[in-house]
Amino acid sequence: MSDLILIEQPERFAGVTVIRFNRPDKKNAITSPMYRTMVAALKAASDDPAIRAVAFLGSEGCFSAGNDMADFLAYAMSGTTEPPAAVDFLKTLATFDKPLVSGVDGLAIGIGTTLNLHCDLTIASSRSLFRTPFVDLALVPEAASSLLAPRIMGHQRAFALLVAGEGFSAEAAREAGLIWKVVEAGEVEAETLRLAAALAAKPVGALKIARDLVRGNTQEVLARMDEEMVHFASQLKSAEARAGFEAFLQRSNR
Ligand code: COA
Repeated sequence: MSDLILIEQPERFAGVTVIRFNRPDKKNAITSPMYRTMVAALKAASDDPAIRAVAFLGSEGCFSAGNDMADFLAYAMSGTTEPPAAVDFLKTLATFDKPLVSGVDGLAIGIGTTLNLHCDLTIASSRSLFRTPFVDLALVPEAASSLLAPRIMGHQRAFALLVAGEGFSAEAAREAGLIWKVVEAGEVEAETLRLAAALAAKPVGALKIARDLVRGNTQEVLARMDEEMVHFASQLKSAEARAGFEAFLQRSNR
């Protein structure tokens, strides 16, 4: 287990597991081991009847800057035919059987935005920014975002987010239906955990049925993830994508 992801069970919020991004010096960029830690935490939460909701949180001013660029480059150079580690995480998330909530304060880039499409409720601070620069990085949408985002926000806004790489403020994200509520930065954690604990306290059978009905067909979501990933993995290895990762990392190494 890595301390770049913290797994917490806050005493004041019974029945809630928190998965917290804890790599603030790298804007909570997510590496393969971090994905694996989150998969293990989700599986443990699913297996434990005492855990009835999971909350994703980041650090002050940053939820996540998305997939780690060095990890992207390592995958691109590896020649592997295995799917990227994010895939197992995203499929575990899409099939997770208990309520998922997220609290975003600040940057939510790439998968830092798209993972919220799998959360049942997202709270964000007014200073948050949602952005998916997939195409700018010579990549394509992932996490079944190409299916879920148009459904939630319509073609134009989904196109602006996923293809044009436009940033969405918290208020624009709320208005588009990408998130539920905007609060002040200092209130994100308390409000997210309050919601998670309230869900955890509800009658478990009814909650599961209601949630399944609202979420709809999981198989369709998994199939779109697979379809996206064929293109994503091949684009990751493209010369144009590698050049972008290298340029970003060289900028960091200066
Ligand atoms: N992968 C790896 N490292 C990352 C990262 C990422 N996705 N995002 C940020 N970092 C690192 C930076 O390299 C830097 O490290 P350093 O201090 O060792 O140089 C540190 O986090 C701080 O980032 P910095 O770029 O200096 O902060 P900023 O506030 O100027 O900009 C971002 C923040 C998120 C806008 C910018 O870092 C960025 O564009 N990151 C890439 C986001 C992205 O494209 N993610 C993939 C989406 S598919």
